[in-house]
Amino acid sequence: MNENNFQNLTAYGIISRLHYYDEVGSTNDEAKKTAYTNSLTNGYELYVADTQSVGRGRMGRTWSSPPGTNISMSLLTNTKLSGELIPGITILAALAVYKGIQRYTQAHKMTSYDLKIKWPNDLVINGKKICGILTELIYPYVICGIGINVNTPDFPDDIRDKATSLMLETISGHEIDRAELICIITKDLISYIDLYETKKSLDFITEEYNSLLVSLNKEIILTSDNIELPSGTYISRGIDSSGALIAENKVGEVICVRSGEVSVRGLYGYT
Ligand code: BTN
Repeated sequence: MNENNFQNLTAYGIISRLHYYDEVGSTNDEAKKTAYTNSLTNGYELYVADTQSVGRGRMGRTWSSPPGTNISMSLLTNTKLSGELIPGITILAALAVYKGIQRYTQAHKMTSYDLKIKWPNDLVINGKKICGILTELIYPYVICGIGINVNTPDFPDDIRDKATSLMLETISGHEIDRAELICIITKDLISYIDLYETKKSLDFITEEYNSLLVSLNKEIILTSDNIELPSGTYISRGIDSSGALIAENKVGEVICVRSGEVSVRGLYGYT
């Protein structure tokens, strides 16, 4: 992968600037530097790294992306959306990644697999994580960071039952072309964000998104920063037009979960 692989995006004005790194600390942090110095060109800037030395995940976790294997990308834009609409960007990114992978694998005649979205920021294949999204706001700049395990051949023992890669879950005969997949995802994500900025609602994708949700109509447990909400198990009923997860308790009462994480029965070791 090198910066020439992204010429289509710049040549057609889809992004205003590409920042490509053979190695960088974190693409989200590079985008943040642009935000802090107000030096964003109009439109969208894309940050791509072959490898990150200090990739960051949510909740202060680290995110590993060894050289030559995975996708580490961040999209930076100057948003017109108000603060409460920003979590919707993560929802749109998950859908853009989902569709990008589907489009890529169909075009390359790869085998089918069970790809799903885990609200709010993961994608899973066959019950294991392949993608994480970290959206950060330095108002009015928003940074949507996406990490995808693409060509990882193996995972350490302690995460092997929770994480996987696209290559491990599909039989293609060749490595997946990361740059091609990044271009597909970037185009879709930008179209979604442009539409969202006009509509200021996720109505235009909720039905499709909910059909792809790994937790739909399944039992979930609310964890981490949901502590202000009543604890216990719920049934997930999908997202509303703000991107909040609708969770129903045993007596049919409904709450809207705006942020945090959920454990889904049957996934990542929750049985
Ligand atoms: C998570 O699952 O916790 C989110 C992981 C997000 C990782 C991506 S990789 C590109 C961008 N740069 C980072 O440092 N993090 C995000």
